[in-house]
Amino acid sequence: MSDLIIIAAIGKDREIGYKNNLIWRLKEDLDFFRTTITNKLIVMGRKTYDSIPKNLPAKKYIVISKTLSPSKDIAVFRSISDFLQFAQTTDEDIYIIGGGEIYSALLPHTKKLILTEINNILPEADTHFPSFQKSEYKIRNIGKFNENGTGYTRNIYEKIKNAASPHFCSPNYLAIIPGS
Ligand SMILES: NC(=O)c1ccc[n+]([C@@H]2O[C@H](COP(=O)([O-])OP(=O)(O)OC[C@H]3O[C@@H](n4cnc5c(N)ncnc54)[C@H](OP(=O)(O)O)[C@@H]3O)[C@@H](O)[C@H]2O)c1
Repeated sequence: MSDLIIIAAIGKDREIGYKNNLIWRLKEDLDFFRTTITNKLIVMGRKTYDSIPKNLPAKKYIVISKTLSPSKDIAVFRSISDFLQFAQTTDEDIYIIGGGEIYSALLPHTKKLILTEINNILPEADTHFPSFQKSEYKIRNIGKFNENGTGYTRNIYEKIKNAASPHFCSPNYLAIIPGS
């Protein structure tokens, strides 16, 4: 079974997007993102798919959508539960790359988060990373950066075993995902 790994860049109030675009555009961070997802499976919501370049070095784009047609370049799952069932059939890690709806739906199934945490706020942001209990994670800092006056850190959050949460990809849990 694969591990699901969230990767996101979030502001101080967990801001991630505005008008279906990224709000934090930091060259070092985008390079880190590209390196991290190189040759990996990436999963995203349809709105994020619409907004990103189609030539990222990922192995495969997976999109969760009720409207998008599949093609040779993308796999499409019509629900969160269909995607989770697929995730149980592969040993390859799958990187969850956004956006807000998909982070919210998949966070309970995720053991590891790679978060770029930007020391800035954008009040007009219209999309946010879900709130979560930091105390349920072991947090490891892997870098501190400053780019053109914007400070940010990169942290890896690993779920502490026994922290209260739904079962990871448990078939029992699949049946009760709201909206799936
Ligand atoms: N800062 C970051 O790290 C980061 C990363 C990624 C994205 N973003 C930003 O996040 C924003 C986009 O996020 P978002 O929350 O608006 O959209 P999203 O999560 O990217 O996509 C939402 C879409 O996914 C599909 N979907 C969601 N839940 C589903 C379900 N249960 N079953 C089937 N399909 C489902 C639907 O597509 P259909 O309508 O086709 O059914 C829905 O409209 C943008 O501003 C983007 O730039 C930021």
